[in-house]
Amino acid sequence: MQGDKKILYSAAQPTNNLTIGNYIGAVKNWVDLQEEYDCVFAIANMHAITVRQNPAELRKNTLSLLALYIACGIDPKKCVLYLQSHVPAHAELAWVLNTFTYVGEMERMTQFKDKSAKHADNINMGLMDYPVLMAADILLYQADVVPVGVDQRQHLEITRDIAIRFNNLYSPTFTVPEGVYVKVGAKINDLLDPSKKMSKSAENVNGSVFISDDRDTVIRKFKRAVTDSDACVKYDPQNKPGVSNLLSIYSVFSGKTVEECEREFEGKGYGDFKLAVGEAVADKLAPIQAEQARLLADKAYLDGVLKDGAESAARRANRTLSKVYKKIGFYQL
Ligand code: TYM
Repeated sequence: MQGDKKILYSAAQPTNNLTIGNYIGAVKNWVDLQEEYDCVFAIANMHAITVRQNPAELRKNTLSLLALYIACGIDPKKCVLYLQSHVPAHAELAWVLNTFTYVGEMERMTQFKDKSAKHADNINMGLMDYPVLMAADILLYQADVVPVGVDQRQHLEITRDIAIRFNNLYSPTFTVPEGVYVKVGAKINDLLDPSKKMSKSAENVNGSVFISDDRDTVIRKFKRAVTDSDACVKYDPQNKPGVSNLLSIYSVFSGKTVEECEREFEGKGYGDFKLAVGEAVADKLAPIQAEQARLLADKAYLDGVLKDGAESAARRANRTLSKVYKKIGFYQL
């Protein structure tokens, strides 16, 4: 708790372009929650380097993600908005938490296994340690809630385990955070293979809709989306994964409930439905893209946001780090 508001923490990696999966599962949700909570949002560039990055692109994607956060409606006056590498306490606490985390726990992480298979030539220590750095992020800010997509659920569980382990060994030090998952769209799937999550780094770019895609591209990608042969717009993720995925997307972008969306397309074919989904998404993305471009032209403003963000984030993070150092017996001056 900070004042009378609970603390909310979340982050995204500045890798490639964000997809509408990231938007629905995370950023849109953050915007909706920023009034109710004391919010801290990071750009997780230290997580990003666990797979090889082009330095110039990583730098560019960092500002681009910051501009996108703000363009989506995150208000830097109301929230702390900062770049992870600007606050050294993340690396420092991650080191300490490493000594409270078991190798076996990290080896069991689904994302580690998936990414190891995908990047077999570079299974580095950082890739394996990724969830501990994420635990450090969250625990430094004493977060009560962490809104994420379901792909991060396992990382959140291990964060809770580490916090509880530390608190039990010493005395209550960390708030044990709760994961918050959106009701519709906590896992948006690939348009061409609805058994997989929509990903920034998908092999086939036609399965992912990026926030930066122009109108024609968005509509074309939805036209090609995989459905089924029943010609019936109904939410049934087990038997109709493609159509259900499109319904989740349409529901979020049109602001209607899934039932309302089903009713709207009763008796209509998939062609009409897919076009409507594409148009709803393109209509919502256009103003976000325009605002992001406007912000990116004002580097001084963006740098100012990062500077202020780093100062307030560091102040909060160092308070926790200092408590931890004291408890574990690090001699302090
Ligand atoms: P990242 O950058 O992969 O994704 C950012 C957020 O988007 C969500 N997400 C999705 N939601 C629904 N459907 C999808 N297809 C989809 N794809 C991604 C993710 O769940 C995430 O919420 N490790 C994190 C970043 C991170 C973090 C943290 C998050 C670093 N430290 C501390 C929370 C708290 C990540 O890689 O997210």
